[in-house]
Amino acid sequence: MNETSRHTQLPVAQPILSPLTRAAIFLVVCIKPNTKSYVAVRALCADLPGLVRAVEFRDIEAGFTCVAGFGSNVWNKLFGNPGPAELHPFREIQSDGRHAVSTSGDVLFHIRSKRMDMCFELATHIMERIKDAVSVVDEVHGFRYFDDRDVIGFVDGTENPRGQAAFDAALVGEEDARFAGGSYIIIQKYLHDMEGWNALSTEQQERIIGRKKLSDVELDDAVKPSSAHNALTTVVENGKEVKILRDNMPFGSPGYGEFGTYFIGFSRSPRTIEQMLENMFVGRPPGNYDRLLDFSHPVTGNLFFAPSATFLESLGEEDPATDSSIAEAQLDQPSSSPVLDTSLGIGSLKGAER
Ligand code: HEM
Repeated sequence: MNETSRHTQLPVAQPILSPLTRAAIFLVVCIKPNTKSYVAVRALCADLPGLVRAVEFRDIEAGFTCVAGFGSNVWNKLFGNPGPAELHPFREIQSDGRHAVSTSGDVLFHIRSKRMDMCFELATHIMERIKDAVSVVDEVHGFRYFDDRDVIGFVDGTENPRGQAAFDAALVGEEDARFAGGSYIIIQKYLHDMEGWNALSTEQQERIIGRKKLSDVELDDAVKPSSAHNALTTVVENGKEVKILRDNMPFGSPGYGEFGTYFIGFSRSPRTIEQMLENMFVGRPPGNYDRLLDFSHPVTGNLFFAPSATFLESLGEEDPATDSSIAEAQLDQPSSSPVLDTSLGIGSLKGAER
């Protein structure tokens, strides 16, 4: 889908709404806490659109995209204050032995394509640019499995919103006009107990997910338990279902007994995904939790904000000399300092013309 915004004066989103692809790399890094490193990462952000174009043009039909997201720990150091209204550290949840862990991670690069070699190429360019400025927290290479199934055998992604509904679900609008066109991203890397899962009958698995395994048809409400995964992840506000956009990917290493699902959810507000997690881990009502968690547990958990492409491109318009002195100043400032915001003129780009 072409993601240019509805009106040319509005910020252009990063390619959040691109169609699902056959391959993806999820690269999560932490920035070393010194000025040089922040400057290096910010410089990469400004150049990222150009790097993406260079790789994309090698096969323009490969659906190649990259989305960069930033955590609350580094937002003000990279871009100044105020940041996106709802950006905060990932909120961990613990309930009866189920644990949605919160792990470290400052920047996410979500690289997608039909071709893994293209994802690999961009990840290589990115790391060449910032290897001295970051430590890598996690790198997962995901692949599309038969019929868009996850490794537990169910088609994953069916109820994703499409078209305008996807736009409305995933992209920030006038509620935070300075950051319009951005998106909140929650990631969790889940590992599965495949032996335990495969020991269940197909009917038991279907009642856990809430859909038929072979046909992918949703179970009838009369037979679908209220603890089914697709029941607990249905969130209704003021009588209206609030959707998110997902692009889960299977990953794993059979040689090491590792079978996983990399969950990634894009949302206009992190509250929606947080509510889904609450329903899954604590239960709705409490105790009526998601039985998928008896066979799957997350080993990472992060919340990022992917600003609009307009925002990222604006970083490249600064004189690099000014850039680093701004960053120096920024690091010496208390975190409420507005230094970067005015200097970069970012505020004027983010929906100010709305
Ligand atoms: C082990 C990790 C997970 C697996 C294997 C998984 C798998 C699935 C499958 C097979 C479906 C049904 C098909 C579809 O509509 O896509 C589904 C639906 C869904 N999942 Fe997950 N999921 C996982 C984690 C999560 C998490 C962490 C969230 C959100 C916090 C989530 C949110 C949703 C939503 C919103 C739906 C659609 C519900 C509907 O409208 O019917 N999933 N998931």
